Amino acid sequence: MARILLVDDEVNIIKTISSILQDEGHVVFSSGRGGEALEFLRKNEVDLALLDIWLPDYNGIDLLEQIKGLYPETAIIMISGHGSIDIAVRSTKMGAFDFLQKPMEMERVITSVNNALEQARLRKENLNLKRGVYTDDEMIGTSAGISEIKGIIDTAASTNARVFITGESGTGKELVARAIYRRSKRSDRPFVKVNCAAIPNELIESELFGHEKGSFTGALSRRLGKFELANKGTLFLDEVCTMSLSAQAKVLRSLQEQQFERVGGNETISVDVRVISATNLDAKKAIEDGVFREDLYYRLNVIPIVVPPLSERKEDIPQLAEYFLRRFSNEHGVGEKEITDDGIGMLAEHPWPGNVRELKNVIERLVIMVPRDTITAQDVQNHLEHDAAEKASRGEVSPLKKAREEFERQYIIEALQQAGKNVSEASKKLGIERTNLYRKMKQYGINPEDL
Ligand SMILES: Nc1ncnc2c1ncn2[C@@H]1O[C@H](COP(=O)(O)OP(=O)(O)OP(=O)(O)O)[C@@H](O)[C@H]1O
Ligand SMILES: [Mg+2]
Repeated sequence: MARILLVDDEVNIIKTISSILQDEGHVVFSSGRGGEALEFLRKNEVDLALLDIWLPDYNGIDLLEQIKGLYPETAIIMISGHGSIDIAVRSTKMGAFDFLQKPMEMERVITSVNNALEQARLRKENLNLKRGVYTDDEMIGTSAGISEIKGIIDTAASTNARVFITGESGTGKELVARAIYRRSKRSDRPFVKVNCAAIPNELIESELFGHEKGSFTGALSRRLGKFELANKGTLFLDEVCTMSLSAQAKVLRSLQEQQFERVGGNETISVDVRVISATNLDAKKAIEDGVFREDLYYRLNVIPIVVPPLSERKEDIPQLAEYFLRRFSNEHGVGEKEITDDGIGMLAEHPWPGNVRELKNVIERLVIMVPRDTITAQDVQNHLEHDAAEKASRGEVSPLKKAREEFERQYIIEALQQAGKNVSEASKKLGIERTNLYRKMKQYGINPEDL
């Protein structure tokens, strides 16, 4: 099923072509005017547009140019009347896939439409492949936690089962969702993401299920919701626990029945959508607090995946750091940089409250800010501290004091290690009293036996 926009002022053409394309299983929207078509495209995505060359308010070539500029992924076929073939040919040079000449033969229309859709799909796929050199897709790590998740991803990908991903912010929940999608049978169909937390409550239903024209103030035209856009594909409900209760009720119903109505509409729409959800909240607690429906939770949570915080899989940190280093050196064109073992060690000991996202940001900053090829422990320390100080100035976690303490803790651990766990010797190295060092070790929970 594709979404196709037909722009022609001849009512008969609209009727005939619409019914041919609908019979082929496509959803067809139509308009007799160029301005109206552009207005429609501003709010709705289509895969293909068929444009008449002569429109009452628009020159079809201008319209082609505008649509190509605004929505380059939309395929376009021009429709030409008698005597406008030259223009039609010119239009293919401007990016139109094909042109159809009136009177149109049914078979020719179907073939051209199918070819255009196939080409658009391949182009999209290619684009993704190209971007894929360093997309955010590769899941790095060999810790027990990540290995287990990779196993579940493989199992889940071959089914249509709903997956519920939990984990702290920045641990890689979206990465997991996309990995499942990419390995699934639905990988050639859309992956549609809804960030439930970012959408105001009063708009979430319309966002998910779409609305009919005039269903509420501001609903100027029909709009397809994410469920409909994700048909045959995968819908990723991010921050699902933050959805309004009425939207949750509607999501629950649409999952049970695999169908729904658009806001303000009567037509029942059937969809085939695989749902993957994620949250960084404690779902059980959200249920207790009455903000998340328990029945919805059980519907969504068929395959649970818990992504552990980075501090619980420190052994992945060196690999992640090397990966981001290679990637950002490449992206910023600064030549291959490396980090010393001490630098890596310091990264491995950082608590990473912002998880992988924070590590990624720190490495990117190091790549940009350190002018040498080798990044040292001192560089790492400067930038970790910088990070914490910056957050503190924005009123976020890790005030400067915390960063200093973390550095101090790390420094003491290193001194102890170098001194073969001998506290007296370490205190000499550090230039402080032995008792003072004991006090600090207690404060930071450092046990020489664990080193
Ligand atoms: N194991 C990993 N390997 C490589 N990159 C990773 C890994 N885990 C996370 N990342 C990267 O870290 C960043 C954050 O990951 P992601 O957006 O998936 O986190 P999230 O759990 O969805 O966070 P939030 O709850 O804040 O939305 C992304 O750029 C992602 O590509
Ligand atoms: Mg996320």
